[in-house]
Amino acid sequence: MKNNIVIETKRLILRPWQIEDADALVDGLNNINVSKYLAGAPYPYTLDDAKNFITKTIEEGLYNFAIILKDTNEVIGGTQISNISYANKTAGGGIWINERYQGKGYGSEAFKARIKYAFEVLNLRRLENGYFKNNERSHQMQLKFGYQDEGVRRQRFISKATGNIEDEYITGLLKSEVRGLEEFDFKVKELK
Ligand SMILES: CC(C)(COP(=O)(O)OP(=O)(O)OC[C@H]1O[C@@H](n2cnc3c(N)ncnc32)[C@H](O)[C@@H]1OP(=O)(O)O)[C@@H](O)C(=O)NCCC(=O)NCCS
Repeated sequence: MKNNIVIETKRLILRPWQIEDADALVDGLNNINVSKYLAGAPYPYTLDDAKNFITKTIEEGLYNFAIILKDTNEVIGGTQISNISYANKTAGGGIWINERYQGKGYGSEAFKARIKYAFEVLNLRRLENGYFKNNERSHQMQLKFGYQDEGVRRQRFISKATGNIEDEYITGLLKSEVRGLEEFDFKVKELK
């Protein structure tokens, strides 16, 4: 199966990764200030890492999206809906924004689109996330949309970026609890 979904919001487009995005992916993830908060990104992050990620994403039809700034057509981040269980109607997934573009509301805008797609198009009922210690920006962003703190998985990850053992602070969002999706530019189309 192929991911051919494109989501458009006010300032952003979320579309499937393309191999031509590899340089932009390296530009965003070859940065310890970003990768130290992610479970699966190594540091340094090389062009081969980027190409392998994109190839796997395309081959497996994963719901991994590049986040594009409409104004400039630049790739400024990535987000995904992962580990989808249609039996339980749940999924996980994360997000990152290139450090140069953080703090401008793009993360919230893309995350919101991801949540809306998961609940309203995929018809899921629960989203599972998490964050590492001190990642207050991610935590606050999740709380804003109604995510609740659900506990800690102790020593859950060895960070590929830092090698540190990290506790995972787990969060979850029920469809019935979601906030902030009203009055929101959101269009979905399917690529041919
Ligand atoms: C987490 C991340 C995706 C957020 O994206 P962003 O574009 O920087 O976030 P936004 O500008 O939309 O801000 C999101 C919210 O974070 C909070 N926030 C912003 N700056 C903050 C700061 N310095 N400290 C604490 N909270 C902060 C605010 O609640 C903000 O929402 P508001 O402006 O409506 O109040 C981005 O910072 C990032 O890529 N970080 C590194 C990778 C990462 O942590 N990914 C998530 C892993 S769980």
